[in-house]
Amino acid sequence: MDRIAIVGGAPLNGVIQISGAKNSAIKLMAASLLTDEPLRLTNMPRLADTRFLGTLLTRLGTIVDERTGDAGAETLLHTPEIVSSFAPYDLVRQMRASFNVLGPLIARTGQAKVSLPGGCTIGARPVDLHLKALEALGAQIDLHEGYVYAQAPRGLTGAEITFPFVSVGATEHAMLTAVLARGETVLANAACEPEIIDLAECLNKMGAKVSGAGTPVIRIVGVDRLSGATHAVITDRIEAGTYAVAAAMAGGEVRLTNTRADLIEALLLKIEEAGAEVERMDDGVIIRRNGARLKAVDIDTGVYPGFATDLQAQFMALMTVAEGESTIREHIFENRFMHAPELARLGADITVSGGEARVRGIDMLEGAQVMATDLRASVSLVIAGLVARGETVVGRVYHLDRGFERLEEKLVACGANVRRIKGAATAEIED
Ligand code: EPZ
Repeated sequence: MDRIAIVGGAPLNGVIQISGAKNSAIKLMAASLLTDEPLRLTNMPRLADTRFLGTLLTRLGTIVDERTGDAGAETLLHTPEIVSSFAPYDLVRQMRASFNVLGPLIARTGQAKVSLPGGCTIGARPVDLHLKALEALGAQIDLHEGYVYAQAPRGLTGAEITFPFVSVGATEHAMLTAVLARGETVLANAACEPEIIDLAECLNKMGAKVSGAGTPVIRIVGVDRLSGATHAVITDRIEAGTYAVAAAMAGGEVRLTNTRADLIEALLLKIEEAGAEVERMDDGVIIRRNGARLKAVDIDTGVYPGFATDLQAQFMALMTVAEGESTIREHIFENRFMHAPELARLGADITVSGGEARVRGIDMLEGAQVMATDLRASVSLVIAGLVARGETVVGRVYHLDRGFERLEEKLVACGANVRRIKGAATAEIED
């Protein structure tokens, strides 16, 4: 199992090019099941998660061709026919978002058998809203032995679906299914995340009729068939936010390119409040901090455009060395503070009580061996390592590889002292 070693103390100076968004790419890849024509995705991140989904899609009948085009990494996905509507446990367990093939499979073939994803380290993460949406669209759903058996022998029909609370995954899943349903679907209390807009734009290029994405009400007029298209994956706002926090933490000046400041505005405002400088550019953002110690600020995670839960662990790392006490409230997932005890191994002073963490800033963290529990938790430990005295070694790096493309390379190019220690291969992925 690989580990990442960081020797703290070096400021970050340079340019980091942000990759395409993991959380958009994997839904766009699932959209390729909806058409028998090729879908070409550019600005594709090369990550463990996109590889996992590629493996599953290949089993379902998709020809997945990862290649380098004029604009960099791209993936061509072509599913002339669905050869299997079965998504087994071993593949869905490895990556929850694989569950999103269920709707497209039903829409294209009228039936599917897809494993339930199970829980994960950040919370129970049920899929009840996904299943209710698919039922509302006319799918018959039965659960047996950990599998969803779905059938829509008479096809899918548009419906009015009001989500009881906002779910990114359920909104996307309903969109991916309703585009081929007969008639109109209205999704109320839909998620407004930028990845939803990206999915809608891609589906519309494929011939779908989706409007309102990015607002709480999405309207979808079903069409008989979708065609191929070319679509550039939206920038990864969580990767951008992570490097923004890293720059504020380590000090120096980092310019993030191929991204959009407006997508991480909630974070940038908190970084400014904490005392680092932020310059918003047309194609990205510059983060600058020279000398002055950061001040503690409070955050509450929320749905977009609120403070992203996927940046909470990184911001907690930042607060461990800020002056004063910061309160961090997690409102999206019930168990997303697993990084707190690991940060404490570096000397951080954090008390967790329910969905709230109090972080009392200290002068200096101290390097130690730590272990990642999920993707964003692991990167928070790397960020902490950037300022810890001595060496920090982060284990279970496979979590990082799921969602951060060439992390060490991007940090090293800015002057960080980070290296990968190669270990035995592992396929043990949880989330
Ligand atoms: C997406 O997860 C992201 N994952 C997550 O990023 C992100 O943290 C999350 O949205 C919130 O922004 C992907 O896009 C692959 P939700 P998702 O449905 O869709 C509950 C990362 O690190 N819920 O919006 O699963 C759920 O348990 C990952 O990249 C139900 O109760 O999130 C949670 O408490 C981690 N029933 C809340 O809703 C359901 O049927 C919001 O989850 C669905 C969700």
